[in-house]
Amino acid sequence: MSETLLSMRKITKRFPGVLANDEISFDLFKGEIHALVGENGAGKTTLMKILYGLYSPDSGEIYIKGKRITIKNPKEAINGGIGMVHQHFMLVPPFTVLENIIIGEETKKFGLLDESLPAEKIKALMEKNGLIVDLNSRVEDVPVGLQQRVEILKILYRGAEILVFDEPTAVLTPQEVEDLFKTFRQLISQGKGIVFISHKLDEVLEIADRITVIRKGRVIKTLNRDEATKSLIAELMVGKPVLLEVSRPDVKEGPAVLEVKYLSLQDYRKVNILTDVSFTVHAGEIYGIAGVEGNGQTELVEVIAEAAPILHGDILLNGESITNWDVRQRREAGISHIPEDRHRYGLLLPFSLAENLTLGMHHKEPFVNRFQIINKNKIREHAKAVIEKFDIRTPSELTTALALSGGNQQKVIVARELSTEPKLLLAAQPTRGVDIGATEFIHNQLMIAKKEGRAVLLVSADLDEVMSLSDRIGVMFKGRIIKEFEREKTTKEEIGFYMMGEKEHAGN
Ligand SMILES: Nc1ncnc2c1ncn2[C@@H]1O[C@H](COP(=O)(O)OP(=O)(O)OP(=O)(O)O)[C@@H](O)[C@H]1O
Ligand SMILES: [Mg+2]
Repeated sequence: MSETLLSMRKITKRFPGVLANDEISFDLFKGEIHALVGENGAGKTTLMKILYGLYSPDSGEIYIKGKRITIKNPKEAINGGIGMVHQHFMLVPPFTVLENIIIGEETKKFGLLDESLPAEKIKALMEKNGLIVDLNSRVEDVPVGLQQRVEILKILYRGAEILVFDEPTAVLTPQEVEDLFKTFRQLISQGKGIVFISHKLDEVLEIADRITVIRKGRVIKTLNRDEATKSLIAELMVGKPVLLEVSRPDVKEGPAVLEVKYLSLQDYRKVNILTDVSFTVHAGEIYGIAGVEGNGQTELVEVIAEAAPILHGDILLNGESITNWDVRQRREAGISHIPEDRHRYGLLLPFSLAENLTLGMHHKEPFVNRFQIINKNKIREHAKAVIEKFDIRTPSELTTALALSGGNQQKVIVARELSTEPKLLLAAQPTRGVDIGATEFIHNQLMIAKKEGRAVLLVSADLDEVMSLSDRIGVMFKGRIIKEFEREKTTKEEIGFYMMGEKEHAGN
């Protein structure tokens, strides 16, 4: 019998209008990776925030190595050997990696800050767990995958034995996911235990020893790895069988809607972010951008969505140059945008869902009358309809965006951007963080948009998603589109090859 590191017993937590955790019991063994899966809003993050002392349960008990403890705040969780890597990192961007790791735990020598001892200890942790990062870089200059390593080092530095990862892979490239899993394996070989939350069931099946499925706040089942399959997990999550495919409508392409011509962009350090990017998206077409994250995709979408000081080039919408237009003009002309970073853009967290769902349309009829007076009823009616259609899990349309689970927040943005009936839809990572049911729904909505003759620019780190939805695919590498494919005339392997830059010059 394995030693039980953690045991949560009958944890219940109620929020206004929602029973987020309903007598959940959950164990973690020494040397185990235990995946926690469930639909958006099922209660995964809530359970882990209770463990980390961010929420207090209404009832229930927590035992660490058989000893009952109460955890009133993260400090107490850390003292109990619990560490959590949140999806949105809690680092201080202008500080160095070293400073971020030791923050709050600094050792002093003769009253002066001593960084030599911690640096030694951290270097040992890096070696042991495959978490190499330059200690002297500023966190803001370090890519996301490495920032996550800093978060992991931070909790290991504080002696965590129980490590909680809330959707850690959502922001990682496939290679980084593999590296993270290597680290996971090293950690459990040292007798630590890992709780792994993810919506990507392939990953769960690859790495987890046990899988606990929760639905609407309750534990449905805990499966051993060898009895689990993707469709079984999906079915337990949703409560009914789930189809994991999209049907592609046959649509005749219309005229060019978006034309990007020789677009070049530099960052503030005068480093090229985009170089001579050219492509066209037609009405009724989904144009997918494949590429390893950080090769200019994010900036490309932002430059089309909002004004930016480009170096040269032109952006045309329905034949007219919009390069010098501001965001509002672009939105009014029919561009909608599902942004990649839903926390920085896209949502006003302290505002209600009703307000968030009409953001950017709130000054237009029917939401205002001809005297520009806001019609609150119309706004609420619209919100109710969208919540229903997109299956957004919320107590009401007056709930704040802040009170929604991560995936439901994402659904709010997708719903709003699709409901503007755009001519051009910019969809950046549209299904990041959403559960399989919602992913299927969003995919179908993109197909409907195509069928209705809208032009869609899809950027996704998920190559399967790009392959299954796009009509044409442009591969981005180092700020250039190095190759363009028709979907039927290529394979995942071929695209993967270009994504790594292997054929950087072959197409030129
Ligand atoms: N601070 C809060 N205030 C009010 N309600 C909340 C709060 N946090 C979570 N909830 C609600 O509790 C329920 C569970 O949310 P939770 O964030 O735990 O879901 P989740 O399983 O992590 O989902 P996701 O996969 O979307 O991240 C949801 O209905 C959510 O709206
Ligand atoms: Mg969550």
